[in-house]
Amino acid sequence: MKKVKKWGVSLLAASLAIFMTACGSGEVKTGGTSTPSTAPSGEAKPSYTLKLAHITPPTHMWHLAAEKFKEELDKRSGGRMKLEIYPSSQLGTEADMVQQIGAGSVDFGFITAAYLSSRSPSFAAWFTPYAFKDLQAANEARKTEIAKKILGTLEQQGLVGLDYLFAGQRVMLFKDKEVLKPEDMAGLKLRVTPSPPLQDFYKSTGASTEGLPLPEVYSAVQTGVIDGMDMDLDATITNKYYEVVKYGAVTNHMVWPAVAMVSKVTFDKMPDEDKQIIREAIDAAANFSATTRAGQEEEFKKTLSDKGMKIYEIDPALFDPYKKQFDEKYGPTDPLIQEFIDTFRK
Ligand code: BEZ
Repeated sequence: MKKVKKWGVSLLAASLAIFMTACGSGEVKTGGTSTPSTAPSGEAKPSYTLKLAHITPPTHMWHLAAEKFKEELDKRSGGRMKLEIYPSSQLGTEADMVQQIGAGSVDFGFITAAYLSSRSPSFAAWFTPYAFKDLQAANEARKTEIAKKILGTLEQQGLVGLDYLFAGQRVMLFKDKEVLKPEDMAGLKLRVTPSPPLQDFYKSTGASTEGLPLPEVYSAVQTGVIDGMDMDLDATITNKYYEVVKYGAVTNHMVWPAVAMVSKVTFDKMPDEDKQIIREAIDAAANFSATTRAGQEEEFKKTLSDKGMKIYEIDPALFDPYKKQFDEKYGPTDPLIQEFIDTFRK
């Protein structure tokens, strides 16, 4: 009898151990699930293990911003909010991630505004060419009414738009040709993210565009399938494009925001205090991202020159007719895009 009882206890302990291992630390892992814990005041407060997914490698600024967000959540919640980060498309494409966030099986995403513009066209506003004088100006634009209204368009899709994270602005890389003015791009085949405003901007110069996903770009340019690409300096370094392109025109013609979003399923279950912690933590991460990145511009240009690329600038005024074409085409398609252009085009 004694032996049977001992076995029963061992079995119970083993089952508990398996459950604890499956749950990581004994806390329930979410999308959005929480466990109550008791605060020193005696008031029960939930604790969470939340998941965040994004597409960039751990060396990219958006991942560093995710780490900062994690740290801020932990600090501001007194350890109640833990974050697991899944970089490098570990949870699938951006379409997969948005689907999982909508369903509540993933809590947060840093999703490119470029991808979102295919689901919620107002995000195309962020690709208004030459809308901001520099990255700090774009970072200040995060706080404007129009930026918030654009985030609000995600609500219909079960997503809560929280903020924007900026890394580098867009530049132009060319394999063999030093492009000195927009017209020099006529006839070149360039990789441009498959988002209509970005592609239209390039097509208006006479270039043709290929909407290749990031992992295919290196070999496409190496083998001459494409003649160059729209990119940022960050990814030029992390993906080693300097090995296969000779020329880098630092045009900074468009910003490149990731949209920080949270699942409505997760958010709606949270008390206001925890929603506020999330909002403040993401604000800190977004400021960290833009400010740190702004300070790296010269260093990144030097890194690429040292790697053998010719890094140069093109006078932005040469793009004036193409800016006008963008504004005239996209402004009338959406009142939010028109408001964005009117707000930032000086
Ligand atoms: C791109 O597709 O060009 C890209 C995506 C994420 C970060 C940087 C670049």
